[in-house]
Amino acid sequence: MNGRGVRRTLSALVLAAATGAAVLVSGTEALAAPVPLTSVVPAPVTATPTAGVTYTIGSATAIYTEPGSAAATGIGDYLAGILRPSTGFPLPVAAAPSGSPSGIALLLTGAPASVGAQGYQLDVTATAITVRANQPAGLFAGVQTLRQLLPPAVEAATVQTGPWQVGGAHVVDYPRFAYRGAMLDVARHFFAPAAVRRYLDQLALYKVNYLHLHLSDDQGWRIAISSWPNLAGYGGATAVGGDPGGYYTQADYTALVAYAASRYITIVPEIDMPGHTNAALASYAQLNCDGVAPARYTGTAVGFSSLCVPLELTYTFIDQVVGELAALTPGPYLHIGGDEASSTTAADYTTFIDRVQQIVAAHGKTVLGWHDVVHAGPQPSRIAQFWGTGTSDAAVAGAAANGTKVIMSPASRTYLDMKYKSSTRLGQKWAGLIDVDKAYDWNPGAYLSGVGESSVLGVEAPLWTETIRTTADLDYMAFPRLPAIAELGWSPYSTHNLSAFKGRLGAQGPRWRVMGIGYYHSTQVTWPAGS
Ligand code: ACM
Repeated sequence: MNGRGVRRTLSALVLAAATGAAVLVSGTEALAAPVPLTSVVPAPVTATPTAGVTYTIGSATAIYTEPGSAAATGIGDYLAGILRPSTGFPLPVAAAPSGSPSGIALLLTGAPASVGAQGYQLDVTATAITVRANQPAGLFAGVQTLRQLLPPAVEAATVQTGPWQVGGAHVVDYPRFAYRGAMLDVARHFFAPAAVRRYLDQLALYKVNYLHLHLSDDQGWRIAISSWPNLAGYGGATAVGGDPGGYYTQADYTALVAYAASRYITIVPEIDMPGHTNAALASYAQLNCDGVAPARYTGTAVGFSSLCVPLELTYTFIDQVVGELAALTPGPYLHIGGDEASSTTAADYTTFIDRVQQIVAAHGKTVLGWHDVVHAGPQPSRIAQFWGTGTSDAAVAGAAANGTKVIMSPASRTYLDMKYKSSTRLGQKWAGLIDVDKAYDWNPGAYLSGVGESSVLGVEAPLWTETIRTTADLDYMAFPRLPAIAELGWSPYSTHNLSAFKGRLGAQGPRWRVMGIGYYHSTQVTWPAGS
């Protein structure tokens, strides 16, 4: 056996051990080769290779960060945290010396104005890798691109052989939309903080910058509210199918918000109302119009519950819940749900949403709601999240014409809980089957009639969990579709090309394997051998 063969075998075994994978990977060559710029997801705005140039991360490489910037130091530490276990190199993080240091530099100077607050410039020469941005969020995005340009084995939790080469490049990149989101339904099934942190780490790799947590529904209430303790204590104890419930303490939630912030992701909390409220109504008899608490619910029907609109206590309740949640949430948005309120009359719905919007605004947050809220009175800054299955909605178009911004989550494109094909073990199919072509091949800025690019705040991929119970289930439904939606949120539409995307997406497969992400092997994707 030659040296290369030995290395391949060892590397494959180490990798299989690190990931728990039963199948051996294809070999060190594929996992250690420099990654072409054309493999980056989301596609950058411009990316130019420099022929014949490579930078090799070695045992003497240091990570230099913008002097005086704690945020840049934090991003340097984050990058070192990814690179150290697999390379085995010390990779010290230090303030950048003046001049042009060799090594990896993360700088908040010298970026073009065109990259804005979230973009970056990345230059790879034979002596240095330099990321420049105007704001820390841009540096973090640049680090994700750098990470994807390193061989997939760099994601391993144990020392791998390398070499750790990055091809010469000049990248200038910034997002198409300000809001690039994912949603996790922690109400139908509860996901403990570790599962949410794992999802946050996955989202960061694809430059997603919002995680919307669906914190309450008929089947469970998932956030402790001090002024209404039964919500979590009683209403949080159930989940779909009689599975175990659970809830986040306020300390858990605060820690998740901070963890997300360290990944430049903002948490958007949702308390769904006036429908989807059985868990709350079951927890407090006095919130019901008839004063009788319903039983807790573990089925999957929708549209049967409603807060009591004429009852004044309803608004005291909402004010206190929203007040506590707003105080725990540094991000600008608070999501009030508002969907599928079929047990609330149209008149009550309008009365209710109008009042709740004012409560949320009084607590200093911008209202986000499922697009059903456009049927209630306008709130100038309210944002509507479109979740329909069609491509026209007169009420949403009318709201957009009056200045309402829209987050695009068309269910037939972005709902990660839809099955890939009818035989998919998990998921639903009421919005259709969604394989990679369906998820990717649409234009958020020209999808819904009357809702053009300038009305679109961004794109979000919701993952409802009626049939989803474990992190393995989450992996399987989110990958490979989540990166497709993330790309629609970040990349200019001029880069949109389904066949090129299938190749780029496939190039992510070996990285997911090393990261231990159990993805769906869509037959539409061009996966490299062994992934
Ligand atoms: C929804 O899917 N009911 C927003």
